[in-house]
Amino acid sequence: GAPVTQDISLLEPGQKLNVAWRGKPVWIVKRTPEMIASLAQVKGELADPENEQPQQPDYIKGDARAIKPEILVMIGSCTHLGCSPTFRPDHPAPEIAANWQGGFYCPCHGSKFDLSGRVYKNVPAPINLKVPPYRFANDTTIVIG
Ligand code: FES
Repeated sequence: GAPVTQDISLLEPGQKLNVAWRGKPVWIVKRTPEMIASLAQVKGELADPENEQPQQPDYIKGDARAIKPEILVMIGSCTHLGCSPTFRPDHPAPEIAANWQGGFYCPCHGSKFDLSGRVYKNVPAPINLKVPPYRFANDTTIVIG
């Protein structure tokens, strides 16, 4: 499949937009400073906080799992059975997670992911969500694929 180019100049902090790439949903989320800070706070709750399972390109490292910490690019498909997790950036929801700092929640069987798509412990999804290959063509243009 061909790479997909997406302009993100209108994306506001805290917002997510969806792009189709190779028939898959790709999310682009502009994270706020608070969202970025939450990534270190939730590590104790996560199954693979250091991304030891290969679910991202080699150039993607660290808690942000992104080229620029404020911009998350992620394949929006649950690693359990492929449902589409919902974006739950802020509403504290004790039924979803005791230490919820925002992230993604899969309504099919209850898998939980942080704001970098890292999976929580003790949920059906076995591994973190996948980061696709991408690059910045300029400050506000992302090329996926
Ligand atoms: Fe997401 Fe089962 S498909 S939890």
